[in-house]
Amino acid sequence: MHIVKTISEVRSHVAQARGEGKRIGFVPTMGYLHRGHLSLVEESKKYSEYQVMSIFVNRIQFNDPKDFSSYPIDLERDFDLARGAGVDLVFVPDEGEMYTDNLTHVDVDVLTENLCGASRPGHFRGVFTVVSKLFNIVQPDVSVFGQKDIQQAVSVEKMTEDLNFPVRIVIAPTVREKDGLAMSSRNARLSPDERKRAVALSRALRRAEEMLVSGERSAGSIVAAMTDIINESKPGKIDYISIARYSDLALADAVTEKSVIALAVFYGATRLIDNMIITFEGERAQCAY
Ligand code: PAJ
Repeated sequence: MHIVKTISEVRSHVAQARGEGKRIGFVPTMGYLHRGHLSLVEESKKYSEYQVMSIFVNRIQFNDPKDFSSYPIDLERDFDLARGAGVDLVFVPDEGEMYTDNLTHVDVDVLTENLCGASRPGHFRGVFTVVSKLFNIVQPDVSVFGQKDIQQAVSVEKMTEDLNFPVRIVIAPTVREKDGLAMSSRNARLSPDERKRAVALSRALRRAEEMLVSGERSAGSIVAAMTDIINESKPGKIDYISIARYSDLALADAVTEKSVIALAVFYGATRLIDNMIITFEGERAQCAY
């Protein structure tokens, strides 16, 4: 596995792999890797022969400077995990390599109006700007994103289409701890007590699934039941619990077409997110989370 810090090194390694006839797979991350990140590499291998991963804590997507300065970092451990997962090239740029005096940013309208977009101003613009830059640096054939960050994944798909990046976007399922908590680099910041309470996010989704499967379609009723479960876990704050139409992430009153139920909850200073996608087979609701 090669570990490189500059754009020109990425370009030369990728050019060599492509010269050998390999398709390039790319998984962008902010590091502090866990099985969720590694599952994206596994998925990427289905479509490509050369795996590139970036590890870059992208300051411009953090709307809260404290969240940025406390973001966990352990590069040596990340390199071991990436090597074990079969990554061929890790790009770990410093800030100066990625940004000097950028005046150009990328926004995706509509899809970013609700959910996390409503509570984290500027966040998605920072995400799409860095992902665009990384796509231009790596020039992958395929790039894999996690359902865990569904609004990010859906918007990156749209950005890729709108800006004609010749990249196939794949969305991979959320990897969870045994008790259901979605894996996240931020879980490391939970106290043992907060960690136990945080299981409420996935429990609330499971409750929503039960209601949907038994025929409930009212977004208000489902959100109310989920809110009760989250409140029992004594969260610091509920940021949002929302139901949106999948196609444009507009908020919905009823769950009658492909939809997403998403929530963001604080335990202490740590903000956790989770979601599930609902599809319909005839009248029957199916939930993926
Ligand atoms: P990061 O939070 O490190 O996540 C990197 C990728 O891993 C994202 O596609 C995310 O959805 C996915 N991921 C995180 N937890 C997961 C889980 N439990 N199961 C499956 N996939 C999971 O998302 C970012 O970084 C950044 O915004 C980035 C796209 C790198 C741009 O800076």
